[in-house]
Amino acid sequence: MVVILFLVAAQILIQACTGNQQAKSDKNQIDALIASLTLEEKIGMIVGDGKFLPAVDLTAEKNADVFIANRNSKLLIPRLSIRSTALTDGPAGINKSPAPEGDTEYAYTTAFPTSTCLAATWNTGLVENVGRAFGNEVLEYDYDLILMPALNLHRNPKCGRNFEYYSEDPLLSGKLSASMVNGLQSNGIGATLKHFLANNQETNRRKYNAVVSQRALRELYLRGFEIAVRESHPKAIMTAYNKLNGFYTPEIPELLQDIVREEWGFKGLYMTDFDMYYGDAVAQVRAGINMIMGGSRDEYNELKTALKNKTLDENTLDENLVYNMKLKLSSPSMKAYIPSLKPDLEAHAKIAREAAAEGMVLLKNENSALPLNKDQTLAVFGKTSYDLIAFGTGSGSVRSHKYRVSVNDGLKSAGFNVLTDMEKDYTEYIEKLKRENIVPPYFDTPKHRKDNDIKGNQSPPHFKTRLVAFSKEQGVPIKKISKYESESDAALITLGRSGGENYENGYLPITQVEFNLVRDVCDVYHSAGKKVIVVLNVGGVWETASWRDSPDAILMAWQPGQEGGHAVVDILTGAVNPSGKLPDSFPLKYETVPSAGSFPGEPAENPTNTFYKEGIYVGYRYYDSFDVPTAYEFGYGMSYTSFDYSDLELSSNSFSSKMQVTVTVTNSGEVAGKEIVQLYLAAPQTEIEKPVQELKGFAKTELLQPGDSQQLSFELDERSLASFWSGISAWKADRGDYEVRIAASSKDIRLKASFNLPNDIIVEEVHNVLYPNFVMEEMSRFSK
Ligand code: BGC
Repeated sequence: MVVILFLVAAQILIQACTGNQQAKSDKNQIDALIASLTLEEKIGMIVGDGKFLPAVDLTAEKNADVFIANRNSKLLIPRLSIRSTALTDGPAGINKSPAPEGDTEYAYTTAFPTSTCLAATWNTGLVENVGRAFGNEVLEYDYDLILMPALNLHRNPKCGRNFEYYSEDPLLSGKLSASMVNGLQSNGIGATLKHFLANNQETNRRKYNAVVSQRALRELYLRGFEIAVRESHPKAIMTAYNKLNGFYTPEIPELLQDIVREEWGFKGLYMTDFDMYYGDAVAQVRAGINMIMGGSRDEYNELKTALKNKTLDENTLDENLVYNMKLKLSSPSMKAYIPSLKPDLEAHAKIAREAAAEGMVLLKNENSALPLNKDQTLAVFGKTSYDLIAFGTGSGSVRSHKYRVSVNDGLKSAGFNVLTDMEKDYTEYIEKLKRENIVPPYFDTPKHRKDNDIKGNQSPPHFKTRLVAFSKEQGVPIKKISKYESESDAALITLGRSGGENYENGYLPITQVEFNLVRDVCDVYHSAGKKVIVVLNVGGVWETASWRDSPDAILMAWQPGQEGGHAVVDILTGAVNPSGKLPDSFPLKYETVPSAGSFPGEPAENPTNTFYKEGIYVGYRYYDSFDVPTAYEFGYGMSYTSFDYSDLELSSNSFSSKMQVTVTVTNSGEVAGKEIVQLYLAAPQTEIEKPVQELKGFAKTELLQPGDSQQLSFELDERSLASFWSGISAWKADRGDYEVRIAASSKDIRLKASFNLPNDIIVEEVHNVLYPNFVMEEMSRFSK
């Protein structure tokens, strides 16, 4: 036996050395590897990925190079050369510990634009390119797996983690996540879709029970993940903390096995979200979890006892471990890849800047306020103008970034004059806030982490304090504004907010101080015939209705990553023509959000159940179907040029299996620009109600010179026509007339054409699972 084990180990070692990836991933090899593990090793690999196995000190390895001494992965089972999987957060850049103050040699990582900003590009190629650069850092800094992209649906604009997620629409979220994963994984490292599933709020984030109908799950919450799994084959999926219809998500085999593995063909690894100590480790393993993260001694012991009592079978462990082994054998560290520790950060900064500029959305531009002429002197108001919020907090932040370009610095480096006394005033104000410790850090300190982990209930009080700090703007008296006005040609105001794990930071109303600042600056500058521009440096949907009439221009800059200030100025000057469009609807007021009445759940003080009563009516699906006005609609965004749409053609006026749609877009304005074209489909209303229209395709033109045209193509398949019928648990396309709407936004429909589906089609029958554990009446347009 010993001889056999030795031979197996030697064989694996030889393969690792020759780098024969094909043979490594061969099932027989994996089975042999698993068969040679002890029971303790098997449990140890599942709980915390070897955290409780005696790791070997790599510095003691023979012939260890300096880089090997730095390896993030640990050698867990030396006789088989099995290492832990080196993993790291998070969605906008590798999020590792910050550099010590003053350090210049530290391995810095790029802070790319956050996901909502990337979503606003609607540009799959650009997002893939960001993924390629990002994944290169993952590889070259010696990691195997990155814990992103996060793609939970923006159910409600308050959700604190929306900045980490993409959109209110599953097609946009799914397609862009797939592009991100394809870019990342082109480096040989792995990506992790998270947080699966229905993780749409931060209040009681670890324990709330999301009660969601089967139809809303299939059409909205599962759909983005389905697209990403099918189109990019991520190496991992992280389950969510919360419960779904009565069970914690990592404990639901119907979700993990029936839907994702069987229906979608997922071949990767499942891990839990971190430190779910309150979960049931045995139920998780039985449901198919491959790595319980971060993993506790209790969980280890629970599995051990269950194996002893025979309530858990060793075969189940073996079956799960196949996925761990597959991941490991395909990982750079197990293939002995030698990372450079020197990715091209300058090149990546350029990509971050380009992506940030392309995601910015011009919401308003009256009186030709923009683009700005660089010969001007600008008065730059708002503390955020001097202290860019590049990303949110928590695991979604990028602690190891080297710099953040502020809007003020971006303006100066582009050649604008700014008012130096004003700069001094704001800089001192920020310093004062820092001294008082109320400028929030860009990362969790150990104290935050500790608090974060204890109960996972309501947001701890200090998080609320930090929230206030982000909006703690200083008031500027009219007299001072008038003085600044006399010294400048125009005014710019940046308003900022951040947030992240553990609290709902989104859609916080503008404060009175901010409101007064916008109002007073606009009054003073407008009476002198000068313009005012507002830049929004926020993570997601924001309240605009109460003040948007005052300024001449409004630019949504999101949380745009480390190059944010440069990117803002690229747009302000017209060096880049804005081409971003909103991935979310901006409501007129919070009360009109379809989930406002049921967010964040019941009972309000400490919600245990969150009823997704709006059902399929999330975002524009609601506003458009119920005719509820918005401040800015889904898909909206302005340009410095204009586009004509023409020649809409359908491949047939009768649908059979597929339909090709083409349209021509012409730049009819004076400057070069890109246009995002959206395809909405209005399906026939039959026995089940449907939103009046749904996004079924989108495309972005190249940079079109004035007068230039481009033909864009879309393909509709049977699934594009289908709705989910829970009663028969199937995707069904109803016979009847369908209208194709080619649009510049969900409300700006430019061209229409119709086709007919002669017969009903049952597109796909699926597992009849995930039935809600409460009776719940969902929103309907045809309510009794
Ligand atoms: C977050 C995950 C993150 C993990 C590891 C959790 O609290 O929800 O998104 O990847 O921590 O940092």
